[in-house]
Amino acid sequence: LPSDIRYEDLVITRSKHLQVKPKLDATTLKFGAVYSDHMLQASWKDGLGWTAPSIDPLGPISLHPCAQVLHYAVECFEGMKCYKGKDGRLRLFRPDMNMDRLARSAARLTLPHFDKVELLECIKELLRVERDWVPDKEGFSVYIRPTMIGTHPFLGVGPTREALLFVVLSPVGPYFPSGLKPIKLYVETQNVRAFPGGVGDKKIGGNYAPTILPQLNGSHLGCSQVLFVLQDGNSTGGLVGESGSMNMFFLIRQEGKDGDLELVTPPLDGLILPGVTRDTVLTLARGFGGMKVSERPLRFDELERAAETGRLLEVFGTGTACMIQPVMGLVKKDHTEIAIPFNEEAAKYWLAKPPGIAALPDLSGGEPFSLC
Ligand code: COI
Repeated sequence: LPSDIRYEDLVITRSKHLQVKPKLDATTLKFGAVYSDHMLQASWKDGLGWTAPSIDPLGPISLHPCAQVLHYAVECFEGMKCYKGKDGRLRLFRPDMNMDRLARSAARLTLPHFDKVELLECIKELLRVERDWVPDKEGFSVYIRPTMIGTHPFLGVGPTREALLFVVLSPVGPYFPSGLKPIKLYVETQNVRAFPGGVGDKKIGGNYAPTILPQLNGSHLGCSQVLFVLQDGNSTGGLVGESGSMNMFFLIRQEGKDGDLELVTPPLDGLILPGVTRDTVLTLARGFGGMKVSERPLRFDELERAAETGRLLEVFGTGTACMIQPVMGLVKKDHTEIAIPFNEEAAKYWLAKPPGIAALPDLSGGEPFSLC
């Protein structure tokens, strides 16, 4: 029987050259630019299954020039975070959701299945080895990047026969260089991130590479990211999707005097990445009460109309990397801007005093794990 990933098979080789850890300063610590000393890895071959996983000094990996990943983007990944609590213990946030999503992304690319519980145990061991890399400062964490690639040297387009899974760690603060200050998004109506029947709901590298140029174009207009709005032949301004690295939320007051508040995010219809933070915000917002919480298609016309009549109250993005990112403007193709109110005082108040928190479900993802 082909072997699976097993925590009990894990082999640890410690690096003899430990790096100096970076200063936890949001202005100098660039997201995803510093890596810890070790990586977790395991490789897979069709018929044989997985090798014993190992934790090794972080270093280059060797690939045949014809490895599938280099030609056909046979790659999927995850983004997770580990926090150090005031008690000094490490905590992962809902990691089972990331393991499930990694398995779904891998399956879509014919990359191999793996035992999700065992892989998570191996990741925890990597975090124990790297415990000193996990920041103990508010707003900072270790970003965990599990990655799987097709390594089989084969220029024909066919199912994966060899794969490598690796996990690297990166100490991070805020995702955007501006910190958690509100950003602007460029309303992208020409380029498309996802489409019906596509793979927009999978976390695969191929979904991200084509978003870089639109993002660069938007940056010339002062925008940190783009908001993808799919032109679907309907004349209502297109279907609001997500941003390159975040799911999007819109707080809208419904029409009419004293209209109800509605928090809207596009539904998981195959075009949207099922974000862990997205799911968490939906669950918490439903627990808050006082507003309708909807996963429904949202057309850009509706957003514009709401903004024109002062009913577009808040816009924010969610993601593991970006956390909760307030948005203060949507810049359109004609360079006009939809301004979105941002109330810093209110934001501070809500942070300090979240409503009804005692009544909310426990989303912590279980017990903190021990360090030794
Ligand atoms: C995340 O939020 O974890 C992401 O993967 C977004 C981006 C850095 C690709």
